[in-house]
Amino acid sequence: DQARQIQQTLAEFRLSKAQLLEVKKRMKVEIERGLKKESHEEATVKMLPTFVRSTPDGTENGDFLALDLGGTNFRVLLVKIRSGKRRSVEMHNKIYAIPAEVMQGTGEELFDHIVYCISDFLDYMGMKSARLPLGFTFSFPCHQTSLDAGILVTWTKGFKATDCEGENVVELLREAIKRKEEFELDVVAIVNDTVGTMMTCAYEEPTCEVGLIAGTGSNACYMEEARNIELVEGNEGRMCVNMEWGAFGDNGCLDDIRTVYDQAVDENSLNEGKQRYEKMCSGMYLGEIVRQILTDLTKRGFLFRGKISEALKTRGIFETKFLSQIESDRLALLQVRAILQQLGLDSTCDDSIIVKEVCGTVSRRAAQICGAGMAAVVDKIRENRGLEHLNVTVGVDGTLYKLHPHFSRIFHQTVKELAPKCDVNFLLSEDGSGKGAALITAVGCRQREMEA
Ligand code: BG6
Ligand code: GLC
Repeated sequence: DQARQIQQTLAEFRLSKAQLLEVKKRMKVEIERGLKKESHEEATVKMLPTFVRSTPDGTENGDFLALDLGGTNFRVLLVKIRSGKRRSVEMHNKIYAIPAEVMQGTGEELFDHIVYCISDFLDYMGMKSARLPLGFTFSFPCHQTSLDAGILVTWTKGFKATDCEGENVVELLREAIKRKEEFELDVVAIVNDTVGTMMTCAYEEPTCEVGLIAGTGSNACYMEEARNIELVEGNEGRMCVNMEWGAFGDNGCLDDIRTVYDQAVDENSLNEGKQRYEKMCSGMYLGEIVRQILTDLTKRGFLFRGKISEALKTRGIFETKFLSQIESDRLALLQVRAILQQLGLDSTCDDSIIVKEVCGTVSRRAAQICGAGMAAVVDKIRENRGLEHLNVTVGVDGTLYKLHPHFSRIFHQTVKELAPKCDVNFLLSEDGSGKGAALITAVGCRQREMEA
């Protein structure tokens, strides 16, 4: 009977094909809303124009600085791109920590910290006097009016620095560089990580016209027809759109598949009511869903001898890397218990079986609904082009996709099932999104020269 009750709890997370097709259909509706002028304002999936009008063509050239802010790691990079027959990209980078106090402090502190890291990096590379062009990968929703202007719509994930929302973050960066009075930089482009990833992959594989991040957060971008992007003048060609699909469901359209555990995760978050889809399918929140379920099962006496430990009360305890370990097929249950022990959770053998099943159920749903979203995107591209059949490559990055033992497989399988008219090839970005940001910066510099 205990087993039956546990299965009943998990059943809410097991979605049928019909339900997944429904998710796909609703994503399509929200995509259209975001693209249309009259509905954009209240749309939840914002479909933000990026002013990136083409993928790389190999003529990009020069030395660039790139920043990569918003994922697990904050990075500063030097990217040397050479065009021509022997085209090549050489990268140097350094990872810096951003303490939680800085993520959630004042905007000035955050940007001063970023500039401090750039300064350290330039010293390290011996390039302080160069006035390099810079591409800023900033993995948050930004309302762009050009390649080098982006107004932060709202913070997402673990960030909440004051005085940034509604501001042009490129200006915030420029002002912080000025305050430091140590070096000059030319900020040329602000780039979402999905867009950087798409560009990184497209440099190697020209059929790549979609970018996906399944990491701390979840989001996608793709090349949309200019005529469909009503917020931007002009109907010729294509432009990359940063979907900001993490906010899918913020109007309640996913409420029928959200569970009480999803609601609890939302209530415990920094941004209640926002990013509801992201909270069901990205690395920052999967462990929290698991924790909510385990807490409930413990309260009902089915787990951990009915005792809620301090560890179980700790927010963020199940990081993506632990979930990935727990779900690894090669791991014996004894090892699962060892991991739980390491997290401060004293488990019996039965406990570890239940924990593993809870993790598997939560991550499977994540991969499936993420796949349903992607199915909507590739079908949209196919319809845009009036094709019976579409071949397309998706550039992917993110710790969940890379580290988790099952996420990518279930995700691929779902896309295949829900978008049978598309042949989708997935390409893992080996170089993060900084390389893509540098490529975009190269194009931005060239455009500027042509206009001058
Ligand atoms: C990295 C990109 O490789 O992937 C980042 O360079 C991006 O910009 C990240 O944010 C996403 O993954 P995660 O899991 O670190 O959030
Ligand atoms: C969040 C951000 C989005 C980013 C994604 C992946 O959803 O809002 O801009 O692309 O995380 O990092």
